Amino acid sequence: MKRTLLTVGLFAMLLGAVGAVHAAGDAAAGKAKASGCAGCHGANGEGTAAGPKLAGKSETDLVQAMQEFKSGKRANAAMKAFVGKFSDQDMANVAAYFASLK
Ligand code: HEC
Repeated sequence: MKRTLLTVGLFAMLLGAVGAVHAAGDAAAGKAKASGCAGCHGANGEGTAAGPKLAGKSETDLVQAMQEFKSGKRANAAMKAFVGKFSDQDMANVAAYFASLK
C-alpha cells in the first residue's frame, strides 16, 4: 500500500513537470511578441509573399516549427534570427496567438 502511494505520488510529480514544460500559451503575451512577424507573415498571420500563413495552425505545429528554426534543424536564416532568442514560454505564447487567429 505504501508502495502504491509512492508510485502515485511520483506519477503526479511527473505529470506536474510535464505540465510545466508544456505550459499553456498566453495569446495576449504572444501578440506582443509577434509584432515583428507581421512584415512577412501578415498583420493577422494571413501570410504574404515573404512568409507562409500562420493563422489557425495548431499550436503544436507552430511550436515545433519555431523550435526547429531555433535549433537549426530547419534552416532558415530569417526565422532563426526572429525566434532564436525565444524561450519555450515565448514560443508557446506566440503559437497560442497565431492559432487563435482565423
Ligand atoms: C523576414 C521574413 C520573416 C519574418 C520577419 C518572420 N518569418 Fe516566419 N517564416 C518566414 C519564411 C520565409 C518561412 C518559411 C521558411 C521555411 O519553410 O523554410 C517562415 C516560417 C515560419 C513558421 C513555420 C510555418 C510553417 O507552416 O511551416 C513559423 C511558425 C514562423 N515562421 C513563425 C514566425 C514568427 C513567430 C515570427 C516573428 C517572431 C516570424 N516567423 C517572423 C519568414 C519570416
